[in-house]
Amino acid sequence: MAGRDYSVVEKHLAELAAEGEARLQAGTSALDVVEFTVAEMESCGMYVAGKGSAPNTAGYVELDASIMDGASREAGAVAAIVGVVNPISVARGVLRATPHVMLAGQGALAFAKLEGFELVEDPDNYYVLPVGIYEHEIHEQKHGTVGAVALDTHGGLAAATSTGGTLGKLEGRIGDSPLIGPGTWADDDVAISFTGTGEHIIRSGGAISIAHKVAAGATVATAIDEVLAEIERLGGDAGVIVATADGRIEMAYNSDGMKRAAVSSSSPVYATTFD
Ligand code: GLY
Repeated sequence: MAGRDYSVVEKHLAELAAEGEARLQAGTSALDVVEFTVAEMESCGMYVAGKGSAPNTAGYVELDASIMDGASREAGAVAAIVGVVNPISVARGVLRATPHVMLAGQGALAFAKLEGFELVEDPDNYYVLPVGIYEHEIHEQKHGTVGAVALDTHGGLAAATSTGGTLGKLEGRIGDSPLIGPGTWADDDVAISFTGTGEHIIRSGGAISIAHKVAAGATVATAIDEVLAEIERLGGDAGVIVATADGRIEMAYNSDGMKRAAVSSSSPVYATTFD
């Protein structure tokens, strides 16, 4: 909400963006950097993802995440996974170690255990109310998601998205974030991650709608505007971050605000929530 102080979160986002930029400058791939950045946001408890997630109506936390490499179109995702610290890293594991794109529920957890991903030891005492959400506004906040997009020094694009989903969601509900297409997309031209009400993002096509419009000749800004307008027409709110192969960064939303940060080799770190 405008007027509230999100400076702690903005500072954290600025630091993460700077760390991501340093890694990219050192030659790390965009895929590694988006996984690292999203994993940090999952682990810190400041966002509605990973440690900052809220329980579903059955009283336990189910998480969604996905990751995609633009050049290879390789992708991995987990949906309604329970009990892992970093769903985005399990999603990367699905990309790396299986012939599949998505694992869900018990199968996703079994895979995470088999591959040795870090588990939540004590779920009753692990999850926290995110710093960016004020106690009294928890019922106003309908959703939260973290995402990252990057262009590396080799010209590779990648996108990653992770969420605890919408607050008060039904057990087993899966949103846009683990879906390659609506929630996350990367190809040779764009890398895209969405936040917002997943049902509306899915029904608008979300990230891949933007990618298709850009491939058909639209500017990225126009493509974003058209998809956000469709989400709004359907009754939802959303935000999106996009990185392009020619080094541009676009971030837009039709919600009250979107905590976000950006940096490039030609522009300093920028972090904000509104404007
Ligand atoms: N965009 C997050 C969700 O709807 O689950």
